[in-house]
Amino acid sequence: MRIAVVGATGLVGTPTVSALQHGGHVVVPVTRSTGVDLSTGEGLDAALDGVDTVVDVTNTVAADPTEAESFFATATGNLLAAEERAGVRHHVVVSIVGLDRIRGNGHYHGKRRQEAMVERGPVPWTIQRATQFFELPAMVVGWTAAQGAAPIPPLLVQPVAVHDVAAVLAEVAAGPPQGRTRDLAGPEAHDFVDMARRILTARGDRTRLVPSWRDGPFGVEAAGEVLLPEPTARLGSTTFDSWLAGQ
Ligand SMILES: NC(=O)c1ccc[n+]([C@@H]2O[C@H](COP(=O)([O-])OP(=O)(O)OC[C@H]3O[C@@H](n4cnc5c(N)ncnc54)[C@H](OP(=O)(O)O)[C@@H]3O)[C@@H](O)[C@H]2O)c1
Repeated sequence: MRIAVVGATGLVGTPTVSALQHGGHVVVPVTRSTGVDLSTGEGLDAALDGVDTVVDVTNTVAADPTEAESFFATATGNLLAAEERAGVRHHVVVSIVGLDRIRGNGHYHGKRRQEAMVERGPVPWTIQRATQFFELPAMVVGWTAAQGAAPIPPLLVQPVAVHDVAAVLAEVAAGPPQGRTRDLAGPEAHDFVDMARRILTARGDRTRLVPSWRDGPFGVEAAGEVLLPEPTARLGSTTFDSWLAGQ
């Protein structure tokens, strides 16, 4: 099959391209670095010529709810319209477990808009939700750290390796549209602060972690089991320990 990966150079896009190529598919990488901008639609029609399936793994750095919603609404609108013109038969998008339960996070706000547009859109679709990636604790520290200390939310999570997410996206992309699939998670639950501490220790980073529901991407609404996957979730096999050992 000819499959376009939109966001091909990203954290989950890169292993998704590899997984699809390994499966014998022809992959069309789509990002601004390949001359396609979802925000304007520039280059999209040429990129999607002859494409059977699109996997959308794009992202924005916008943390403000209005900016995040604007990015995902414009990008998804341009992408779905171009897919319809090109006769694309399956639109696959990665989303986030627990999206509906978190109201105070701007990125989640944008992703809800993206999901709604895909559900109502003109192209048969699959929405694959995944839990937090193993890389997320270090990203949060990068966003919040100041003067040697970083506020970090004391979340309970069941994080997943991006390689496991990529393998599932490649499998889904090669099959028929499924609508909403089972949640995808990692094999074990973890304490988010503990994950961050272990990653920083492995990197020799002495930033002091301050458990806090303030000054970060998640407020106290994310406490308890809010971010955990549904009991029937599909589980990746990579453990946090083995991922960390490979860093
Ligand atoms: N992080 C998590 O824990 C987590 C968990 C579950 C789901 N997710 C979801 O996974 C998705 C991918 O996240 P990620 O961390 O892999 O993203 P990422 O590493 O930031 O990569 C984003 C990709 O999108 C491309 N892109 C950005 N703006 C674009 C534009 N205007 N036009 C075309 N391409 C554009 C980038 O390439 P260029 O810059 O070259 O354009 C890049 O290839 C996100 O939607 C996120 O919500 C994340």
